[in-house]
Amino acid sequence: MARLDTLGAISEVPGQLTRRYLSPAHVESIRRTEAWMVEAGMAVRTDPLLSLFGRYEGKAPGRPAIMIGSHLDTVVDAGRYDGGLGVLAAIAVVAELARAGERLEHAVEVAAFGEEEGSRFSAHILTSSALIGVVKPALLDIRDASGTSVREALAAAGGDAKAYRACARRKGEIAAYLELHIEQGPVLEAKGLALGAVTAINGSVRSTVTVTGFAGHAGTVPMGSRRDALTAASEMILGLERLATAEQGLVATVGRVKVLPGATNVIPSRVEFTVDMRGPDDAVRRQAHTRLLADLRRIAKQRAVGIDVDTFQENPAVTLDAGVVEVVGEAIAACGQEPFRLPSGAGHDAGIMAKLCPSGMLFLRCKNGISHNPAESITVADADLGVHALLEAVRGLDRRLG
Ligand code: GLV
Ligand code: MN
Ligand code: MN
Repeated sequence: MARLDTLGAISEVPGQLTRRYLSPAHVESIRRTEAWMVEAGMAVRTDPLLSLFGRYEGKAPGRPAIMIGSHLDTVVDAGRYDGGLGVLAAIAVVAELARAGERLEHAVEVAAFGEEEGSRFSAHILTSSALIGVVKPALLDIRDASGTSVREALAAAGGDAKAYRACARRKGEIAAYLELHIEQGPVLEAKGLALGAVTAINGSVRSTVTVTGFAGHAGTVPMGSRRDALTAASEMILGLERLATAEQGLVATVGRVKVLPGATNVIPSRVEFTVDMRGPDDAVRRQAHTRLLADLRRIAKQRAVGIDVDTFQENPAVTLDAGVVEVVGEAIAACGQEPFRLPSGAGHDAGIMAKLCPSGMLFLRCKNGISHNPAESITVADADLGVHALLEAVRGLDRRLG
């Protein structure tokens, strides 16, 4: 918990936690975490996209690894447990194995991924995607709000975009992946449970919508003669809210809106907004997204504004490995807790890793289900249970995978 406080203080912005991918604060968090890995008995390295890995060998060196971990980047004005908990708990697990002189059949590798959030480049789950070899070079050309590309940011931070293919691991090199994460929702707390075994991760789609109107004088253009990009976008955003509300299990969010030229006395000529839509059922989500696109075009036509939609990322829903879910349940039970199962509404690196190897997740209760908010909070007792359950699950996977 003290380390989570230390990590939580490494930020781009004084007075709040903002640690976006490849920012000086993110690089500092990698260096800090690297030192904790070494102290716990691991050999460390970073890959070209600056995922950090710490390796604790098994009974014989070079064996396939059970990978455990999470991400070090955060959203803007974040809580200190989303991502950080999974990385530091994984280090605590290895520290305990090393302290007890315990070597497993498998190596244990701790992973600290980057740009899981997509809060700098909108390319979320980026470095775990590179690990499984599905990063397309165009993703590295995405620019942040200040115009810096992933490639340029990597060069400045000591990474190497040109070598991105070298991030990819061979099938078989990683035997399983396991991630401890705060639930980021209210289910465990409502059930009075500290831990849960995650069964599935919702699918998601992310788009940028650009609405083009016509700038004009706020004092002279009559209301009926305007092509206001912002009022058109407002109608679109409220329509999106109605659409998602009507569909069981579907959620949709507009988290960023940019208004140009952005002056009090000028009718907005251009608005860009993001859409993040998620749900457990890919078919329902795709249908809703198609309906959304039709609604946007209808509203644009009615209001005589231009519209362009760039759908830049889609991740199908993921069913986590039944064997890993069972092992996680057994580990929770071994800690004296009910092995409750639940799905994840949030995206996670585990959802990407599941394409490479059997993967699972362990959720930990957080106060009032609050996350992506500085009010994120967990208890010491729950964190202790979480680390013990993660250690038990690693041992369980080691036995099960043989
Ligand atoms: C990550 O937190 C996501 O689900 O957006
Ligand atoms: Mn996270
Ligand atoms: Mn997050």
